[in-house]
Amino acid sequence: MTKRKILVTSALPYANGSIHLGHLVEYIQTDIWVRFQNMQGNTCHYVCADDTHGTPIMLRAEKEGITPEQLIARVWQEHYDDFAAFHVKFDNYGSTNSSETREFAQGIYRKLKAENLIEVRSIEQFYDPVKNMFLPDRFIKGECPKCHAKDQYGDNCEACGAAYAPTDLINPFSAVSGAKPELRNSDHYFFKLSDPRCQQFLRQWTRSDTLQTEASNKMQEWLGAEGENKLSDWDISRDAPYFGFKIPGTENKYFYVWLDAPVGYMGSFKQLCNRTQDSGNGIQEKLNFDDYWKQDSDAELYHFIGKDILYFHALFWPAMLQHAGYRTPTKLFAHGFLTVNGEKMSKSRGTFITARSYVEHIKNTEYLRYYYAAKLNGTMEDLDLSLDDFVAKVNSDLIGKYINIASRCAGFITKRFDGKLDKEIGIPTQLIGILQEPAAQIAEMYETRNYSRAMRAIGELLNHVNFFIDTHKPWELAKDPSQTQSLHSICSEALRAFRILTIYLKPVLPQLARNVEVFLNTGDLSWEDAQTFLPSEHKINDYKHLMTRLDPKLIEAMVAANQESLQPQPQAHSEQRHAAHQQQEAKKVVTEAEKDTGAFISIDDFMKVDLRVAKIVNAEHVEGAEKLLKLTLDIGEAQPRTVFAGIKSAYDPEKLKGRMTVMVANLAPRKMKFGMSEGMVLAASGEAPGLFILSPDDGAQPGMRIK
Ligand code: 2FM
Ligand code: ZN
Repeated sequence: MTKRKILVTSALPYANGSIHLGHLVEYIQTDIWVRFQNMQGNTCHYVCADDTHGTPIMLRAEKEGITPEQLIARVWQEHYDDFAAFHVKFDNYGSTNSSETREFAQGIYRKLKAENLIEVRSIEQFYDPVKNMFLPDRFIKGECPKCHAKDQYGDNCEACGAAYAPTDLINPFSAVSGAKPELRNSDHYFFKLSDPRCQQFLRQWTRSDTLQTEASNKMQEWLGAEGENKLSDWDISRDAPYFGFKIPGTENKYFYVWLDAPVGYMGSFKQLCNRTQDSGNGIQEKLNFDDYWKQDSDAELYHFIGKDILYFHALFWPAMLQHAGYRTPTKLFAHGFLTVNGEKMSKSRGTFITARSYVEHIKNTEYLRYYYAAKLNGTMEDLDLSLDDFVAKVNSDLIGKYINIASRCAGFITKRFDGKLDKEIGIPTQLIGILQEPAAQIAEMYETRNYSRAMRAIGELLNHVNFFIDTHKPWELAKDPSQTQSLHSICSEALRAFRILTIYLKPVLPQLARNVEVFLNTGDLSWEDAQTFLPSEHKINDYKHLMTRLDPKLIEAMVAANQESLQPQPQAHSEQRHAAHQQQEAKKVVTEAEKDTGAFISIDDFMKVDLRVAKIVNAEHVEGAEKLLKLTLDIGEAQPRTVFAGIKSAYDPEKLKGRMTVMVANLAPRKMKFGMSEGMVLAASGEAPGLFILSPDDGAQPGMRIK
């Protein structure tokens, strides 16, 4: 098989916040994949960097009385250390505030300009007359035009969820100085995404096998039907003062942080190339930037991202690359968000846990790597970290099934056989054969990022080996001198099995695997080593504890500590996330008429939703679904409807049978993994725990319309 050349990235974390367990879903997922590729003998490079530009960073530095450069240097070190603690191994961890990223960003801009894809337009925006700066939406506050909640941000209301333009706010004020903002005009630079060349390219790019199904559906929605032009131009400039790169040929215009953020992938890789080229030791392969980034490159390029930044990576980024003469990504791998105990991470519940706090309390970061691996399936579904399940899984799978193999057998080899395995017969035993056989299937599961399936398949192999040990009971053989030879062969076989299992788990548990390599005296194990086994009389080293049980008290202490340290956090960096859809709007000035329709819907709009009283005639669990219940609903039609509802955490299906509720009856049927869902059941939820389905008053009959 030819060696693949692969470049992998994870999204660049903002340099104004700490790494938390939500971030780590992505970095751990990526790191496992990269380690797996390298174990396969492929050349796989993994680069990342801090995302350092923008207003929030500039203002935070000012508040701390330091320069933005000092702030980002400090945060860079924190991030770097956090990743290292979780064994996330980058080949280069850079910063977007680097000369490499600057050159690529400016070069790309110049090429887009030469292609006539940049346009300058005057736009009207809120300006802080005290601070003398234009205000990003998240730095404008005021009263929600819809529900009149006070102190809401300029893009959406946290009380009622309404989305609006900052100009819609009642009594707006600057969140920076408190001043009343003024509307002022300024020239902004736009990347002409609406240009037919971009549209055409993006349609074709989406058609190729670049996106997961859910992401590709989203793309179709953004692009609209063939012939439709739904994409708006993208505002890529910000006025001074701004911490970022100046736009060439301007005096006071800077690239918007999202323009240079993905360019940071290139900048970081370029630093890696420079390092290998400068090393001069001849050991490391010289890396050539163009081999990976020129338009006809035969290398593969993958971006691991969260589903919330798909818009940037699936539209702006490939369009920029294509029209600036670079290659485009081979694939985007988007993942869902992390929930903890079934809910959004929350500071008041103590479940907003930073990487640092995890390390302080739990120490062993491979527990979390294993747990995430056991949950990740390569889709955009959210992943739940259930803290009880976390403890149970680590202790039962990792300690109870895996580590126990070595801890039950190694001592006998050391004490009774001078650390030497038995004389093997040269062909795999039945047990070893069982372990070797699924190597290719497990590899495919890693390749497709379906780590949960891989962990389940490995779990079955662990059961085989434990059954083997339980059947032969080495601890009893050890008591009978006539069984010395059996003791030797059973323990040797178990350790040979342990080595193969370690190979399969190595992408997930790199440090543990390294310790096993030392203990079993094997050297660096690759994937193909699973097809061999430890030879006759192989000498092992003394067994030292490889991993200890996870004490649930540590989790309790961690959650309590995060509750105790409850502090308001700067919100501002979400500006960039919330800006995604605002891009489509290209900061147009909202007219009075639009204002009227923005905050309210008409009665006609409301009447489009067909709400019906429904009787739950059956409710059952869905095999393999963590959050769903399957409901059979009578709404007075000839056939009952099937609806999959995400209410499993809150309801026992038995107790739902016979209850009346409310459903949306004219929602387009949706094909789900478990079958077709023909509507939606309504439920209430909020910041406080709990999920509550609705019930009509007594007397309502199935099928009655709600209006
Ligand atoms: O959403 C974020 O956290 C961004 N800092 C991600 C940037 S990814 C890439 F484009 F650089
Ligand atoms: Zn509101």
